[in-house]
Amino acid sequence: MAAAGSAVGLGSIWKFPYIVGENGGGAFIILYIVCSMIFGLPLVMNEFLVGKLSGKSAYGAFRALSGSGRWQWFAWLTMVSVMLLMSFYFVVTGWCFFYLVEAASNTFANMDSQALMTYFRTFERHAPLMTIYAIIAIVLTASVLWFDVNKGIERLSKILMPLLFLMLILMAFHMVFLDGGITGLRFLFEPDFSKLTPKVILEAVGLSFFTLSLGIGALITYGGYMPKEQNVTTTSIQMIVLVIVVSLLSGMIVFPAVFAYGFSPTEGPELTFVTLPAVFQHMFSPTLTSVSFFALMCVAALTSTISMMEVIVAFVCEATAETKRPLNRHQSVILVAAIQIVTNTLCILSMTGTVSWLTVMGNNFFDAANDLVTDVLIPIGALGMAVFTGWFVPKARYQGSRVASFIYLVILRWLVPIALIIIFLNSAKII
Ligand code: TRP
Repeated sequence: MAAAGSAVGLGSIWKFPYIVGENGGGAFIILYIVCSMIFGLPLVMNEFLVGKLSGKSAYGAFRALSGSGRWQWFAWLTMVSVMLLMSFYFVVTGWCFFYLVEAASNTFANMDSQALMTYFRTFERHAPLMTIYAIIAIVLTASVLWFDVNKGIERLSKILMPLLFLMLILMAFHMVFLDGGITGLRFLFEPDFSKLTPKVILEAVGLSFFTLSLGIGALITYGGYMPKEQNVTTTSIQMIVLVIVVSLLSGMIVFPAVFAYGFSPTEGPELTFVTLPAVFQHMFSPTLTSVSFFALMCVAALTSTISMMEVIVAFVCEATAETKRPLNRHQSVILVAAIQIVTNTLCILSMTGTVSWLTVMGNNFFDAANDLVTDVLIPIGALGMAVFTGWFVPKARYQGSRVASFIYLVILRWLVPIALIIIFLNSAKII
């Protein structure tokens, strides 16, 4: 449940729809699903297993399993990836909180699609407001870890996540009956394979791994907390199916709305935030529905941010334990939260254009971090993880683990690395 809570988040509700929209719909979705099953399953199982067998977070797991420190740089790379991921994820979590407050104040009533778009664009230029909401998200996340109320949150999300799921189903059902609803579903499910380019394939891999929380050591940390008798295969399959279903459901809400209310599928990162308020306007009791939905979306985002921060806090505690200045959990939480306040603020100052020189290669920090993490760091992390288990973990360590069958090692040793390397080289136009 905890792993599912961490995996189901803004990736499925915010990122999935706009990336699908930018990449032409149907064919991309097939790639996304195939990739989640063929690469996702062995990789998710692998990360859980690395954590479970070592009982460590990403910092200690590689050394514990391979018996040498040669993979330590890789452990640090995963930590940098998670830090970068949080640097834009909190910004978007902040958007959810802002939209929750605005929905409660009935701001979106009677706005047409043009007005909704203008509204988001104005908000997106407002650095102080966005910073305040991002900081609220960071502080809330840090408080959960500080007061050690993870268990409580988990219990709460066991009720709230099914509620979110139910709402998504009801909304998707409602969308089918709209004028334009069917056009949206056709966009989503009618594949047009001419739209698949090497770059699109890499994006499908990146999106799939992003929504599955793969490639950055997060699932290692979760595996480390798993009880011995827990079955890794079943847990992984359940998690993957849930993530795919939630992603598809958000697509089935957003795209019918795109075509019914005159938005563009290639809108970009604001897609979910401009279409949803339009959807609620036409539903039963708009204020109540939209407030409940945005509240649940905030919870989904928070269960993800909590687990990201937990990954780093566990890492920092383990890494500093060997030094002269070991940090305890509370100190680590403060340190990570403080760094995140700085990096998220920089991200916001850059994307609002408030500080014009804060750019990398012509992109603002938000877009740069988002693309770098999704399309580069996560796939590289997943590749590294497969190579690590396939080639560097002595087989003896797996004895007694049913999962590490011959086929498993063949997939991690050969199939995943070769496929990922081909996809990389292909999208870099080298082959
Ligand atoms: N899967 C999460 C989502 O879809 C995002 C995510 C990626 C994540 N890596 C993670 C969450 C690591 C927690 C830990 O929103």
